[in-house]
Amino acid sequence: MSRKKLIAANWKMYKTPAEAKAFVDAFLPLVAGHTRDEIAIFPSPVLLPTVTAAAKGSNVAVGCQNMHFAEEGAYTGETSVRQLMAVGATHTLIGHSERRQYFAETDEIVNKKLHTALKRGIVPIVCVGEVLAEREAGKTESVLRTQVTGAFAGIQGLAAEVLASIVIAYEPVWAIGTGKTATPEMAVDAHKIIRAEVARLLGANVAANMRILYGGSVKSENANALCCQEEIDGALVGGASLKPDSFTAIVKY
Ligand code: PGA
Repeated sequence: MSRKKLIAANWKMYKTPAEAKAFVDAFLPLVAGHTRDEIAIFPSPVLLPTVTAAAKGSNVAVGCQNMHFAEEGAYTGETSVRQLMAVGATHTLIGHSERRQYFAETDEIVNKKLHTALKRGIVPIVCVGEVLAEREAGKTESVLRTQVTGAFAGIQGLAAEVLASIVIAYEPVWAIGTGKTATPEMAVDAHKIIRAEVARLLGANVAANMRILYGGSVKSENANALCCQEEIDGALVGGASLKPDSFTAIVKY
């Protein structure tokens, strides 16, 4: 079993097109020839044409932070997967905790988005994670199981190669943007819970091959301890991905 690690940059609502282009131009030479891990950048949709053009032909993939579950329609302010793929997005985050927290995304919506992503062939990174009160109340395991079960409802019958494209990101909400990182042991424990739930839902083989990333205050100082764990298949990086040097240091953990 070998799962290639994925190091992903979640730029959230940062950067203009000019700033995004400057990042990519500086970043590509720093990671040229790096084949050990997959690298992907997730900018705002308005930056996608710039970033995909700048990264074209390189070892850096480009994805979006969100997509609508409908193919098209009267959804003011939303973006469809067809639109996103047409400007070069090959991956998409789904159900990031900020979407759940500020935009009322439920497990049901996450599930609908996953179905659309799998149908259209964009690589989905499904984000799960407990809030602090849930961890302190000893509910981490049940929260993670509920989120995974909800996200994966109705996908059991899909082809093995379709299921194999799914990536999960475990992001404890209390660690996002707070500077508090889960210890490698905490992350590994959570990943094992998630992998066991995937095995229950989709079978041991799919679970053994599914990549589970860790996210939440990953930086150059802690990336190695986290990413060296066999159970941790890479990182989803917010704040520390905004500068070429610091993101490169994480990519080369
Ligand atoms: P952070 O964000 O690295 O700034 O904690 C991670 C994320 O939200 O994906």
